Amino acid sequence: MVVSPDLDVARAHAMTLLDGGHPVLLESFLDGPEVSLFCLVDGETVVPLLPAQDFKRVGDDDCGPNTGGMGAYAPLPWAPAGLVDELVSDVVAPVAAEMVRRGTPFSGLLYAGLALTSQGPAVVEFNCRFGDPETQVVLALLRSSLARALHATATGALAAEPPLQWADGAAVTVVVAAEGYPGPPRLGDVISGAEADGVLHAGTRRRDDGAVVSGGGRVLSVVGTGADLQAAHDDAYRRLEGVHLAGSHHRTDIALKAIRGEIAAPA
Ligand code: GLY
Repeated sequence: MVVSPDLDVARAHAMTLLDGGHPVLLESFLDGPEVSLFCLVDGETVVPLLPAQDFKRVGDDDCGPNTGGMGAYAPLPWAPAGLVDELVSDVVAPVAAEMVRRGTPFSGLLYAGLALTSQGPAVVEFNCRFGDPETQVVLALLRSSLARALHATATGALAAEPPLQWADGAAVTVVVAAEGYPGPPRLGDVISGAEADGVLHAGTRRRDDGAVVSGGGRVLSVVGTGADLQAAHDDAYRRLEGVHLAGSHHRTDIALKAIRGEIAAPA
């Protein structure tokens, strides 16, 4: 796959594939920051959760291959006021209304993966589930009962629910990945510090002798919270210092561009 803003580069790559007898799929180049917006949807009722951003590439500065997600933060200090309302009214609510109109109303968690391009918000993907690792930061800030909100969604009562309550401040999560990930990960290494507060388990298992060992590529998700994004970042990386897994790796720049004011939504 080639991602390029240069039409000639894209065309040359396509010609190479076509000359080799391969099919070609062209996709629009989406400039601008990505946003993950999870919404509870019950028919035409849409209740957004906090917006979040995740980090898909394995290495700092978005280098290296894609992963299932190496970290996330929420909310988005760079997001313009009204962004979530705009995304709900322009993207999610019309989808929910159309599904009702077609006689297939949706009930559950609709995850919109979006890019805020200079041409306006663009949908990268929809999923019918929570996203990982954005969920770790969004739920770290939720003060209402998640079970109650999900129950109301599942029983057609979401419209009657009080607004969701959120903690002030921010949350950051950093994923600890096993050696080799996103290729075949090395498994079975003992993890220390895995049972501390803020350390969520993904690819772990407990050995017969009681030790917690790595059991998947993305092993742990270490969550920090704080009064602002800088404080949440510092809290997450401080907690990470207490976790040890031989050969593991993690990104060191989760949320840094947002903290430094280096992300801007298009005007
Ligand atoms: N964070 C991307 C996903 O859950 O698909």
